[in-house]
Amino acid sequence: MSTGVLEIGLNRALHVREERLSTRHDACRLMYVSDIHLRRGRSDRLCRQVIESVHQCGTDAVLLGGDLIDGPSELSKLSDLVGRLCEDAPVLAMGGNHDSHVGLNRVRDAVVSGGGQWIHDGIARLMHGSRVITVSGPEAAPQADGDVRILCAHNPRIWKTARQCGYDLVLAGHLHGCQLVAFEFRDRLFPGAIFYPYCYLSHRCGLTRLVVSRGVSDLVPIRWRCPREVVLCYV
Ligand SMILES: [Fe+2]
Repeated sequence: MSTGVLEIGLNRALHVREERLSTRHDACRLMYVSDIHLRRGRSDRLCRQVIESVHQCGTDAVLLGGDLIDGPSELSKLSDLVGRLCEDAPVLAMGGNHDSHVGLNRVRDAVVSGGGQWIHDGIARLMHGSRVITVSGPEAAPQADGDVRILCAHNPRIWKTARQCGYDLVLAGHLHGCQLVAFEFRDRLFPGAIFYPYCYLSHRCGLTRLVVSRGVSDLVPIRWRCPREVVLCYV
């Protein structure tokens, strides 16, 4: 676990944060992984950490929440990562702002060639026992069907509109917890929330839960009270 105060570099194992929307014994275990930021010189280490987390948690499905790569040199690394993750569980993926810079079509093709499903503007329906879990991407129209309805997004500002759309769970990343956390107040991380109003960890509006991941890696790998993480959601 990497919940320590100060983290410099990328050597610690990823923190696995658990978010329980369901207490049923046969809950579906969804691993939300955002902001991997594969880049030259660090991709192998980051991929190994993500694969280990997914494998150790007995994950039922992996949701890749955008900012997967920082440059086109890492497209093949992304394909390989998705391929390895698919050995454990189905992989659904969507893009973030960094992926847009590389080209969403290229990132989509890398995900698909690794065996993953691209849901940026689409919907996946996962069967878990007798239940149907629908996972929508940020550009998909909201869905009313499914026993559990999830929106897999990147930028948490989508919460402004998505909280009215009948989802059970809205997932986002992007903000990295702002890497330095002095304190939490009303579900938000400060000082980041001064600049980014959606700098939440977990929040609720009616029946809809928002979960914001602090992400896997950063441009400058320094964090304080803000572990690099993946989020294991029980739904
Ligand atoms: Fe990011």
